[in-house]
Amino acid sequence: SRVKKATADKVLAAVQRLGYVRNDAARQLKQGRSSALGLIVLDSANPFFADIARAAEQYADSNGYQILLGNSRQDIQRELGYLKMFQEQRLSGVLLSPVEKVNGLADNFRNVGMQVVVVDQKVDARSACSVSVDDVAGGALAAEHLLSVGRKRIAFVGGPLEIHQVNDRLVGAKSVIDKDPNATLVVLPAAAQDVISGREVGSQIVKMTKEERPDAIFAANDLLAVGVLQALAMNASISVPDEIAIIGYDDIDFAKAAIVPLTSIKQPAQELGETGLELLLDEIDNPDHQHREITFQPELVIRKSTSG
Ligand code: RIB
Repeated sequence: SRVKKATADKVLAAVQRLGYVRNDAARQLKQGRSSALGLIVLDSANPFFADIARAAEQYADSNGYQILLGNSRQDIQRELGYLKMFQEQRLSGVLLSPVEKVNGLADNFRNVGMQVVVVDQKVDARSACSVSVDDVAGGALAAEHLLSVGRKRIAFVGGPLEIHQVNDRLVGAKSVIDKDPNATLVVLPAAAQDVISGREVGSQIVKMTKEERPDAIFAANDLLAVGVLQALAMNASISVPDEIAIIGYDDIDFAKAAIVPLTSIKQPAQELGETGLELLLDEIDNPDHQHREITFQPELVIRKSTSG
């Protein structure tokens, strides 16, 4: 708007002719901040986080921002490395799915002008904005459903249990099953929240005798549930849901397309990504910003893997 159209046209023609690409570092120095925002997820191979990233990117794009994606792979040192690199790049803000419980971490970066909003973990609104799902309620929902379809010997498949989302889901399931004198809960630890680890645990179940086997499995996410399903399907003598019912968590697209359509606890990934970005942009642009803690409720989606 400060340049005559004829002048602008001349400059743009020169840009085309020279193949000039602007230097964002120089632009940032002049403007003091970048039009890029950071997003750090725990596992970019998990469609749940891919769905969050897609929603966040769409919201950022509609507000004139680009997203730089970091994958912490559940490793705190990788997470801190990305946060430091984003700070060096003078990003205005980061949407972070944290490996550990964040205590004061957001303040450290806010003090140097980089806002941090937490996604997929509840944080006290006095220190930062957060958007998450109540995983304890989600675990309880899964257990209540398995009991409602007559299952009594329930196995929780998840891990490492240090992952706060996994631990909260177990706590929720345990709170329900402990109230039923006829039901039992065992934990079958998984090496990671992925398909391969689900297949490994599924293979252990296949080797159990009929009497030792659980009659239901609550997998801490859909990738684990898909892996368990694959292991049981390879040993065709174990039918799902007749002998073993299976419920997952996240309700990713693969859940409905699984070899036996998977019952799952739905997390609203689209809303998590959009709301997280909305909070982040408000914190960046609104001088009167007030931190908010937004918690969505999980939803039970029933399919064939628990109800014949
Ligand atoms: O990364 C651990 C789990 O927490 C993921 O599988 C997803 O369910 C997230 O909420």
